[in-house]
Amino acid sequence: MDFKDYKDVVHIIRDISFSLKKNHCLGIVGESGSGKSITCRAILGLLGKNFNIEGDAFFEGINLLKADKRRIRRIRGKEVSMILQNPMTSFDPLYSIENQMIETLVENLGISISEAKPLCLKAVEEMNIINPKVVLKKYPHELSGGMLQRVMIGIALTLKPQIIIADEPTTAVDSANQIKVLKEFANIKEKYHTSMIFISHDLGAISKVADDIIVMKDGRIVEQGTAKEILNSPKNHHTKYLIDTRKSLVDRFNYIIK
Ligand SMILES: Nc1ncnc2c1ncn2[C@@H]1O[C@H](COP(=O)(O)OP(=O)(O)O)[C@@H](O)[C@H]1O
Ligand SMILES: [Mg+2]
Repeated sequence: MDFKDYKDVVHIIRDISFSLKKNHCLGIVGESGSGKSITCRAILGLLGKNFNIEGDAFFEGINLLKADKRRIRRIRGKEVSMILQNPMTSFDPLYSIENQMIETLVENLGISISEAKPLCLKAVEEMNIINPKVVLKKYPHELSGGMLQRVMIGIALTLKPQIIIADEPTTAVDSANQIKVLKEFANIKEKYHTSMIFISHDLGAISKVADDIIVMKDGRIVEQGTAKEILNSPKNHHTKYLIDTRKSLVDRFNYIIK
């Protein structure tokens, strides 16, 4: 993919090729700026006109990179749900959580407000949120990042998408809530049979949920394989570096809490 500047062309990502298996979680790991977000945004048609995207991305026989915008928008709302890094920006500060959930469900599922209401309650209950009725009445700024992220996951699941793409869903969340959020992702596969792309710069988070892993660096895939292969016998030196960095962080953490 190129980013066409007025002066010259910058290649942001190249030779990216992967497949997402049904009911599997594909983890995309790489340092900040390695091209993880751009890759997924390209697939979903979320990049501006200045980006030149070449290649194919098939979803149920439809080439997402060539299909018309209306069709892509429909797929994005219903079949593929995206969960973003900062839940705060995904919510409108002026509306209660419940009203925003209702709006999303009415719009994407074509149901009435009275049909949407019980689904909202079910969504937050499924995320193991305490006092779900109280939480639904709150405004975004009254909830923690971790709580909002779990609400986002709840909404995404209610839409029953075939694919969930989560871009750094644990990055803006404090560490106690990170574990809860990761647990919900691990549950998604078991309970809902949803396929997932889970993006993170944190190999630790990826290792909790991914079946397959892609390692990216400087806009390219440097290694890909099953999570077991990548985590237990990495071949690429950058993958080894990510694993070692992660290990030293964990060791330091264990040392501090001893
Ligand atoms: N809107 C943009 N215009 C130009 N370059 C961009 C834009 N967004 C991201 N990039 C560049 O693309 C590269 C990959 O970015 P990104 O996919 O966001 O990385 P990651 O998600 O892995 O942190 C980075 O070098 C970044 O500077
Ligand atoms: Mg990113």
